[in-house]
Amino acid sequence: MRYLSAGESHGPELTAIIEGMPANFTVNLDEINFQLSRRQKGHGRGGRMKIEKDQALVTSGIRFNRTTGAPICLKVINRDWVNWEDKMAHFGEPLENIELVSRPRPGHADLSGGIKYQQRDLRNILERASARETTIRVAVGGLARQILEQFGIKIYSHVLQIGSVKEENPVRPFEAKDTAEWANKVEESPVRSYNSNTEKRMMDEIDKIKAEGDSVGGIIEIIITGAPVGLGSYVHWEHKLDSKLATAVMSVQAIKAVEFGLGFKVGERPGSQVHDAIYHSEEAGFYRNTNHAGGIEGGMTNGEPIIIRAAMKPIPTLYKPLESVDIETKQAFEASIERSDACAVPAAAVVVENAVAWELANCFLDKFSGDSVEEIKQQVAAYQDLIDNY
Ligand SMILES: Cc1cc2nc3c(=O)[nH]c(=O)nc-3n(C[C@H](O)[C@H](O)[C@H](O)COP(=O)(O)O)c2cc1C
Repeated sequence: MRYLSAGESHGPELTAIIEGMPANFTVNLDEINFQLSRRQKGHGRGGRMKIEKDQALVTSGIRFNRTTGAPICLKVINRDWVNWEDKMAHFGEPLENIELVSRPRPGHADLSGGIKYQQRDLRNILERASARETTIRVAVGGLARQILEQFGIKIYSHVLQIGSVKEENPVRPFEAKDTAEWANKVEESPVRSYNSNTEKRMMDEIDKIKAEGDSVGGIIEIIITGAPVGLGSYVHWEHKLDSKLATAVMSVQAIKAVEFGLGFKVGERPGSQVHDAIYHSEEAGFYRNTNHAGGIEGGMTNGEPIIIRAAMKPIPTLYKPLESVDIETKQAFEASIERSDACAVPAAAVVVENAVAWELANCFLDKFSGDSVEEIKQQVAAYQDLIDNY
């Protein structure tokens, strides 16, 4: 599968065209909209989340709840467009009194993008660089994860750190007494924390930093269960699953680091405390008692849960102004703003989940390819047989 997206933050809509999705997959629009609503939540969000409740529209490729094999067009309408029609008009001349954006915000694409694309109105940069673009990626991921779920692959996320507040004893969904209870609790938490104590401290941290006019980042963890052994491949660099998933994670705005399993800790420990010993039993087949690798060895899934962590930088737009220089006057100014998130770590977790869902669904369909869900099911069953008899 492949997809292209288009659309600006204050344009009429965000659009994606997905090509290559096999026929006869059952798709639930509510599930896509559920993902969109998850992206809009979280303690520390700013004004826009209150203006817009995102809803996906499908205009092709799905008929009576099922994919037809034709390209799927997904859209999310920007309700705020009515206030931007003049300023963001696609044709005609700009209004006399239109305010050009000439003040690049530190930490954003504004200045480098202005130089690169030779734009003197930095709105032409920020409109597309904005994290509003993640809306359509979440919609696409919301579709892709439905394929995965039909084959028992589930994607979870939680927040492990906000600023100086760290979850010291993280519980993962498969370690909890009840996975569904884990998922519900995290979903209801304004900071996506399973631990009520940490949740409270994280919210206090956000409030404190926001009151200081500052912003705060954090660390999220993505957990994928049910992936069969052998997605991705060692045979050539571009087939390695960890590299593909890392690209998906790093492509999300403000994500600055990614790690799998033990991650950076592999550099501190001896090999005997890094690698996962292999065992076998009649009932379980091959298995491991530890998962330091985070479910990926040699660029392939090894059957254990995939564990990915990512670090998000603090939101760059601060109420407390940062120094910058006007591109026209070359004069220094202090970048102040009207509206911004103080913390978007919980929302970023949802975005990363869905970006990863797209990549993993693609790898799944690379391994079990076919034009229809019927063909894919046959291949999955045949492969399961091969695994069981290995
Ligand atoms: C879900 C989400 C929401 C974001 N909200 C804001 C925001 O309100 N204000 C802001 O300045 N940056 C926000 N960002 C971060 C910027 O989009 C990002 O830092 C910027 O585009 C520069 O890209 P880079 O950080 O990847 O270099 C958000 C990012 C994500 C993932």
